[in-house]
Amino acid sequence: MAVTRRTVIATLICCAAVLGVYFLYFYHGSPEDIMSRNRKQHNKAAVSQGKFLHRAALKSEHPQVEDGGDDEDEGEEEDEDDPAVSSYKLWEQWVEENGYLSIGDIYDKCDDSKDRVTLGKVILLPDHEKGGVTSVSFLNHTIENDIDEGSEVKIEVSYNGKELYKNHWELCTIDEDEEEDRIVFCPIKKGPRTWKKEMKIPNYLPKGRYTAKAWLVDIDEKILVCGFADFTL
Ligand SMILES: *[C@@H]1O[C@H](CO)[C@@H](O)[C@H](O)[C@H]1NC(C)=O
Repeated sequence: MAVTRRTVIATLICCAAVLGVYFLYFYHGSPEDIMSRNRKQHNKAAVSQGKFLHRAALKSEHPQVEDGGDDEDEGEEEDEDDPAVSSYKLWEQWVEENGYLSIGDIYDKCDDSKDRVTLGKVILLPDHEKGGVTSVSFLNHTIENDIDEGSEVKIEVSYNGKELYKNHWELCTIDEDEEEDRIVFCPIKKGPRTWKKEMKIPNYLPKGRYTAKAWLVDIDEKILVCGFADFTL
């Protein structure tokens, strides 16, 4: 069968369309491109969150202080004894000292009340081996009661502002398939704990902005830890 000019043209158009869709919706650029996109986004976010906590601390100490005062003067008056403020600063400093790009925070509760304590950070790293990027969550936490069967991890992910995915898993078996990376072994005894968990952000995800919320509840549905992440591919 002779290959006609028409077949060649049709094939080329198909290839171009597939490539076009790929570049339009799926091509994220190099790991460095993704990093710099997220760096811009999070620089803005960190500034507004820093101000929010800053004002919260000021208000609790000096209820008469008005919003919109001179930012430079307020610097001296922060309440370092407030665990919400001191934990936030400690983790911010940790991010800065390590030169990390933070894409999320981990707290002791899910609502954004002023007394929530920062327990950790989610950072983004370029993945030079598999391409794309990887997230790493760091968490320092004191567990008050032993954790065993019945505790669950719940997750909600939204994509460009719309709900994309919801799921929940039993904590004790959540990473039992990950032989080398397994970090959860039940029962988890009470006391101070340090966790570090790496998660590859899949390269096949379409371009766009992702926000994720993940939280851990005990057998009585009480929230123990709650993390938020926000990144753009
Ligand atoms: C978290 O805990 C580890 C180990 O105890 C410690 O080295 C690290 O400084 C802690 N990080 C923060 C931000 O407190």
